[in-house]
Amino acid sequence: MSINSAAASAGPLHLYVHTIGCQMNEYDTQRVQHILGVQGYALTTDINQADVIFLNTCSVRAKAEQKVHSYLGRLRRLKKRNPRLIIIVAGCVAQQLGADLLGRFEHLDLVLGTRAIPSVGALLHRVATRSERLVHLPESEEEGWDSLLRQGQFSAPGVVAPVTIMQGCDNFCSYCIVPHVRGRERSRPAASILTEIEALTRQGVKEVLLLGQNVNSYGRGLPEILTFSQLLRQIHDETTILRIRFTTSHPKDLTEELIGSFAELPRLCRWIHLPFQSGSDRILQRMNRVYTAARYLSLIEGLRSACPDMGLSSDVMVGFPGESEEDFRQTLQLMREIRFDNLFSFSYSDRPHARASQLPDKLPEEVKGARLRELQNLQMEIVLEKNRAEIGCIREVLVEGLSKQSEGSQLTGRTEQNRIVNFEGPAELVGRLVKVRISDAFQHSLRGGLMAD
Ligand code: SAH
Ligand code: SF4
Ligand code: F3S
Repeated sequence: MSINSAAASAGPLHLYVHTIGCQMNEYDTQRVQHILGVQGYALTTDINQADVIFLNTCSVRAKAEQKVHSYLGRLRRLKKRNPRLIIIVAGCVAQQLGADLLGRFEHLDLVLGTRAIPSVGALLHRVATRSERLVHLPESEEEGWDSLLRQGQFSAPGVVAPVTIMQGCDNFCSYCIVPHVRGRERSRPAASILTEIEALTRQGVKEVLLLGQNVNSYGRGLPEILTFSQLLRQIHDETTILRIRFTTSHPKDLTEELIGSFAELPRLCRWIHLPFQSGSDRILQRMNRVYTAARYLSLIEGLRSACPDMGLSSDVMVGFPGESEEDFRQTLQLMREIRFDNLFSFSYSDRPHARASQLPDKLPEEVKGARLRELQNLQMEIVLEKNRAEIGCIREVLVEGLSKQSEGSQLTGRTEQNRIVNFEGPAELVGRLVKVRISDAFQHSLRGGLMAD
């Protein structure tokens, strides 16, 4: 027996996780931590100590996929040093490439598709005991929604917890790979969602973030007739959770009823992430987004007249095939009109299976890069101006924990509008709603002082 393997068999087995991608991937990684935790794996933050490495991957843009390939390349060296190391790749790149990944990376042991998370324990056992290399890409989830309830047993959920309410996407925006790797839209029954939220509340969770690719089309295909707004009302009225948020919403499914919910349900945070993607109708049509810029603006007006202090966040893309300078100017114009509090901006890239990859008139990287920089500069100005306008205001903040930069007494939390606020205060306030007077504003956060009760 080599020194290495003797050392490895001495203590508990160690799991190292790395997640690339969206909150759904974060959530799936937490599920894996839980499943393998029950099987005796201890989480480590030292990759050199790992017996199992779990990499959760994203394929939404070419860059994200490249990140996965280079990360996997770097793991080759670790596997050479420790041949007993087991490397698992899951998530959207795993779903997209399947067995090809095993072919490309000889040091990989297990490839798990996006619906294979519940099998991670059994398959890892097979890999570990029989030295097999496996690919598992099931067409549907192997366990029902209620298996997510075991999430409630996570060692220590934080103040804010994600709750999956639907999976997959049926929208087929022409640039997007997600419907191809996450499958058709499935909604989780309300009873299962409510049970999970109650369990999380009992464990001390104060805010839930309802997750799905397109949460506001929730309900399709369920035996009960239930709209997303009705689900929100049930969560609001039938649980004691302090705050409710959700993401992501599609403008085409933003109903009057949902806009009304923000005004009617006090524990629903007045914040929405509503991607607009482009300010040009011609481009929106080619993207298959099925709304116009005017329609998007009228939705924002509706939200702001229902709740004047609504926090607005969005996604936008530059360089979609055929995007002219004029189309791009229309995107900037829409940003100036709306003045989002937060904006995630991307440069278009071709994705396998996505129809836009077949379109003519692709833009050169330099043009896309220059547009992205111009757009981001404009957005930085807007955010800083909006954050500075917060100075002097008193905001209600849910305290999430100790601030990372601090030496102990700095707390961090969020306003209803999703702005990060740092301030001095005792650790007992974690998990409480407090009032903070804003005194300083930066690009990504605010600073303030705690108000007396
Ligand atoms: N379901 C969500 C999020 C999808 S992915 C939604 O519909 O909003 C997050 C963002 O990635 C998208 O909103 C889009 O702006 C961006 N994106 C998706 N595909 C892309 C591609 N091929 N190139 C560049 N950005 C892309
Ligand atoms: Fe992709 Fe569009 Fe679905 Fe969002 S709504 S995941 S952008 S296809
Ligand atoms: Fe990426 Fe898959 Fe999420 S492609 S954005 S990890 S659904």
